[in-house]
Amino acid sequence: MCSMACIHLFLTLLLCAAVSEGKQEFAVNVNSDGTYNVVVQGDVWLKSAPTFFRVDGQVFSSADGSLKLVKNTQSSGVDVIGQWEANSFLYQAGSSQIEASFVQYTPDPSIFTYNNPAIPFMLFKQRYINGANNTASNSTAFTISGFPGFLIQESTIPLGYLSYGGLMFGFKGLMAGQWGPSSFKINDGIEGGPLTIFDRVKTANTLIISPANRFMSSSIWRQNSSTGGDNVYWGTMGGVEDVPVGVESSFILFCGNQGINKAMVSWGQILKQWHGRTEQYVKSDFTLNYLAYGTDNGAYYCYRPEEGKNYQDTVLDIKSYMVQIGVPIRYMQYDVTWYTDVHPGVVTWSSPPGIFPNGPQWLYNKTELPVFGYNPFWSSNTTYATANGGKYEFVIDGPKALPLEERFWTDLLAEAREWGLFVYEQDYLGTEFEAINKLLTDIDLGRQWLTQMGNGAAKNGLTIQYCMSLPRHMLQSLEIPVVTQARVSHDNRPNTDNWKIGVSSIFALSLGIAPYKDNFWTTSVQPGNGYNLSEPHTSLNAVVATLSTGPVGISDMIGGTNKTLIMKSVNADGLILKPSRPATAIDNRIRRMAWSDFEGPDGEVWSTYSDFGGDNKYGIILAADLQGSYTMTPCMAGYQGFPNSMVFPANNPNKIQPLTDPQPLTMSGCTMTDFCLFYVSPVLTVNGEQVLIQGELDKWVPMSPQRVTDINIADDITISLTGAAHETVSFWFNADGKSSPVTCTLGAGGLATLSFTAGSCRGV
Ligand SMILES: *[C@@H]1O[C@H](CO)[C@@H](O)[C@H](O)[C@H]1NC(C)=O
Ligand SMILES: *[C@@H]1O[C@H](CO)[C@@H](O)[C@H](O)[C@H]1NC(C)=O
Ligand SMILES: *[C@@H]1O[C@H](CO)[C@@H](O)[C@H](O)[C@H]1NC(C)=O
Ligand SMILES: *[C@@H]1O[C@H](CO)[C@@H](O)[C@H](O)[C@H]1NC(C)=O
Ligand SMILES: *[C@@H]1O[C@H](CO)[C@@H](O)[C@H](O)[C@H]1NC(C)=O
Ligand SMILES: *[C@@H]1O[C@H](CO)[C@@H](O)[C@H](O)[C@H]1NC(C)=O
Ligand SMILES: *[C@@H]1O[C@H](CO)[C@@H](O)[C@H](O)[C@H]1NC(C)=O
Repeated sequence: MCSMACIHLFLTLLLCAAVSEGKQEFAVNVNSDGTYNVVVQGDVWLKSAPTFFRVDGQVFSSADGSLKLVKNTQSSGVDVIGQWEANSFLYQAGSSQIEASFVQYTPDPSIFTYNNPAIPFMLFKQRYINGANNTASNSTAFTISGFPGFLIQESTIPLGYLSYGGLMFGFKGLMAGQWGPSSFKINDGIEGGPLTIFDRVKTANTLIISPANRFMSSSIWRQNSSTGGDNVYWGTMGGVEDVPVGVESSFILFCGNQGINKAMVSWGQILKQWHGRTEQYVKSDFTLNYLAYGTDNGAYYCYRPEEGKNYQDTVLDIKSYMVQIGVPIRYMQYDVTWYTDVHPGVVTWSSPPGIFPNGPQWLYNKTELPVFGYNPFWSSNTTYATANGGKYEFVIDGPKALPLEERFWTDLLAEAREWGLFVYEQDYLGTEFEAINKLLTDIDLGRQWLTQMGNGAAKNGLTIQYCMSLPRHMLQSLEIPVVTQARVSHDNRPNTDNWKIGVSSIFALSLGIAPYKDNFWTTSVQPGNGYNLSEPHTSLNAVVATLSTGPVGISDMIGGTNKTLIMKSVNADGLILKPSRPATAIDNRIRRMAWSDFEGPDGEVWSTYSDFGGDNKYGIILAADLQGSYTMTPCMAGYQGFPNSMVFPANNPNKIQPLTDPQPLTMSGCTMTDFCLFYVSPVLTVNGEQVLIQGELDKWVPMSPQRVTDINIADDITISLTGAAHETVSFWFNADGKSSPVTCTLGAGGLATLSFTAGSCRGV
């Protein structure tokens, strides 16, 4: 538990969940005139901005009285989230009647995995009772409605913010800083995403505001003095021309009291519950479980086959090389290599004759490797469109096109299964959204596009990866559970910081999407590469990919794979040995981004863990590109509720030390080349001896649920292991301060039971 003791001892380090001082945790106080404010533990955090709706070519606002309050009503009920009470204000805006409701929820505690109390939250609902015409704003960056909206003012207590925005799951336009009119800058409009506001002193309270439905048509707008004042609004995106009768757009305001990571996860749990997003597709996705070979931008064989050979022979040579060195790649990602040039868009989704001369099915038969297939956007010349003599309706807009029928996806993907497609990768999602004008003006088309694609994939037993997505696409995937994974950083050109996914992974984790860092090289120098670059941080890329829980894919030249390195990520079958959840940046990293003088790490410090139930929780801490040193308690790592544990560096299992709030971990000298990796194990007592289970220390994740299937602690410690037939596993324990391995050979069935006291293992 993160107790009072931690607060008292480390008040200056500003750690963990603050204790409630008997004040109400969180409230939205609504006045009879429809104004409101947000109070967190007795402090007013936010005050309402005027409510507005744009209708009949005009703005109707409560600021100048043009928005007329008709009546105020109360109602209540119960739904899949829990009990709610609504306070609704009916407005007349020109010829439209629009209801703005404050819906206070008391969620069912079973929704939350963290032992959060059922924290009440607020939903802001805009309901267009008779629809609205001529609503478009003069910029797609604005919104046509503003509810909720808040004044951007200096606050009485210091507040910071984190705003996801832009391409790659909100990675590219990520902003953090201080709340206030001169410092609050975000990527808003079409690029905008969830906004997180947190306090500096208590370091526990976190507000998250985002759309709760109609994700593709909802935006955040940071209004400024040139457009009417410093306000931040949520509403329907600025380009929408009319709103059909009965449309209801909701925005959630969630307040967590256990820090930023945990608030994001709880916020995501509410949204997942609402939209029925299940994790079954993520869990069973082959490509999230096995090692890949990739040809994406940054890969050695992106845009270039082997010298003097075609792509087909290059693929066959890659496969032979992997077999020869014994690296168990289990599928191939075919990227732009498929096309001669993607930039005008895809005409027919197949490779031109010169690429795979015998056809993709022949190649699939030959390699027996499933395919992860890439697709950018459709050309106006696409042969599938009725306008070009094809069978399916498309919208054609300039050089690009957008399919309008689910049948199209069902047929396209059914055909692709014949050549081994397992996962469909949709790239350029943001570009497509902003290029097809109808996606910006029609309130329903964006959702229709993505749900049709998702249904087509689901019917064919396929899953989807999103790439170059905006936050709205990712939020939309709450309704499309076959979207299992998404890129969370820019492309992996060698020697770039594409590995810095700790903050974007929080957003992915909260939605239940596996974050993908892109493929990487396993040796530094790969002569003849198209980038004229080398990769000095091969190990860092490998550990980040493995801790992400997303795909792990290598993209080396033939002859350039470091088997020792890549085998740290997987078992002998190529099964990824990953933790229970993605590694994410610790809260104090984000606070340090917001306040440069905050005592958080000046660099990347992330944490994750493997959870085997009960007290069997094994932590992993990664620090890299860290200036100076940083001291962290288990609370700060997000390990509230973990048992009494010890920590040791990955490269020295004998160097154990307690990890408790009074005995924190100090990290220093953590660079990109020599990053710091620590493992955390519960302290066990077996026959009077202090024992730590340290696990398989030649892997990045020594205690992975993909390897360890059961842990039984009594007079002995018995561990059930799984893996490839006859695979050897070197499994470490620390007994009374001294570490040593038990070597275990799995049986023909790929199973074994290991006994700590006997120091032996029985394979089955
Ligand atoms: C919107 O326009 C349609 C078609 O002209 C009309 O039938 C409808 O009444 C209008 N709605 C409102 C709210 O003005
Ligand atoms: C856009 O609309 C707003 C509000 O209606 C107005 O204040 C602003 O001047 C307009 N901007 C332009 C460039 O027309
Ligand atoms: C104000 O907002 C407009 C529209 O979003 C933007 O173009 C402009 O750069 C902003 N101005 C400032 C000073 O931030
Ligand atoms: C690939 O294998 C399947 C199943 O054996 C077979 O039906 C198909 O004809 C093969 N395709 C090619 C192009 O060789
Ligand atoms: C479509 O084809 C025409 C005729 O070949 C060509 O001029 C045009 O550039 C193509 N459009 C795109 C987007 O590739
Ligand atoms: C490749 O990089 C090296 C060192 O950065 C540089 O000297 C050389 O000119 C580059 N070669 C090309 C073809 O760009
Ligand atoms: C391969 O990786 C291992 C483990 O990280 C490392 O010790 C070794 O130096 C690497 N070898 C090469 C050639 O990069």
